[in-house]
Amino acid sequence: MRRGIIRGIAAIGAVALLGLGTACSNEREGSSSDKGAAAKGFAKDSLIGVALPAKTSENWVLAGDLFTNGLKDAGFKADVQYAGASTTVADQQAQISSMVTKGAKVIVIGATDASQLSTQVAAAKQAGATVIAYDRLITNTPDLDYYIAFDNYKVGQLQGQALIDGMKAKKPKGPWTIELFSGSPDDNNSKVFFDGAMNVLQPLIDKGDIVVGSGQKDIKQTAIQGWKAENAQSRMDGLLTSTYGSKKLDGVLSPNDTLARAIITSVKGAGKPVPVVTGQDSEVESVKSIMAGEQYSTINKDTRKLVAETINMVTSLQKGDKPQINDTKSYNNGSKVIPSYLLPPVIVTKENAAEAYANDPKLSPLTK
Ligand code: BGC
Repeated sequence: MRRGIIRGIAAIGAVALLGLGTACSNEREGSSSDKGAAAKGFAKDSLIGVALPAKTSENWVLAGDLFTNGLKDAGFKADVQYAGASTTVADQQAQISSMVTKGAKVIVIGATDASQLSTQVAAAKQAGATVIAYDRLITNTPDLDYYIAFDNYKVGQLQGQALIDGMKAKKPKGPWTIELFSGSPDDNNSKVFFDGAMNVLQPLIDKGDIVVGSGQKDIKQTAIQGWKAENAQSRMDGLLTSTYGSKKLDGVLSPNDTLARAIITSVKGAGKPVPVVTGQDSEVESVKSIMAGEQYSTINKDTRKLVAETINMVTSLQKGDKPQINDTKSYNNGSKVIPSYLLPPVIVTKENAAEAYANDPKLSPLTK
């Protein structure tokens, strides 16, 4: 439960913390949250809305096509929309409102900003639609029905452990000097990834085995707005100038592949050796980089699986059945604990890449 609160409050301001006493003492958790969500089913050819964020990483690009085709194959009508790159929040709010107006029976949302959708989610609920948060939790709303994602806290733990393993392989004895990066502050996942990683790294930092060279350990200092590569690159440029004139950098915690490659570009641009850099998403360019011995690790969160499981949820709802849930304690969104379906993420390094991507026709050839 404690971990659930940590995960759930990720993107919520201090004021929202006041509500947690109630959430905390609510032992019924998932059962109360489930009420009404399964409804009575709906027509097989109903409209299903999918509102995705801007295409900040490959997983979102893949998800759009998979939803369009998968929902059609399952017999539904699909309305799949992406938020634009610069007006993301307003775009997504308008797209969800339009899906509600068009009578969508289920609305699947990959939130651009976790805390800015409560009005739209309430309107969806009011209109009788079921709302599923996809990959990113939506916070501060009692109207969210389900959450489906890879276990994000576990992603962070795997990243933290990979950073340690990679540094130990290069230099068996510490202390190791590192820098920390985290994702966009408006994405609820960013703090969950960071907390998971710090859960593994903090004990070594406390012992002095790991030193954060710049001293920047607070998530406010490590955050990369908009998950943008250029923001990560310029933060790394700054850190190299301020801290790494003569000091050696052993490792960088990067929350995803896009930022990992930007960090590596910065380090190489400064003529320094590439440290151990973590990642996430199994993006093509990062898998190539891992195989070439540059980026150290990534995470395999197979988008095909996540979309397929989401469509299974939609199909259950269509039939009037309860969707499959495997977690009723971890994700408190500030209003309630959201019944969740969590998939296991897999850490990938050069060592296990061939095995990890064996069933992925796009990535498997890169590991040969
Ligand atoms: C997703 C990551 C992705 C990031 C940036 C997160 O919410 O979980 O897979 O790298 O957004 O798009």
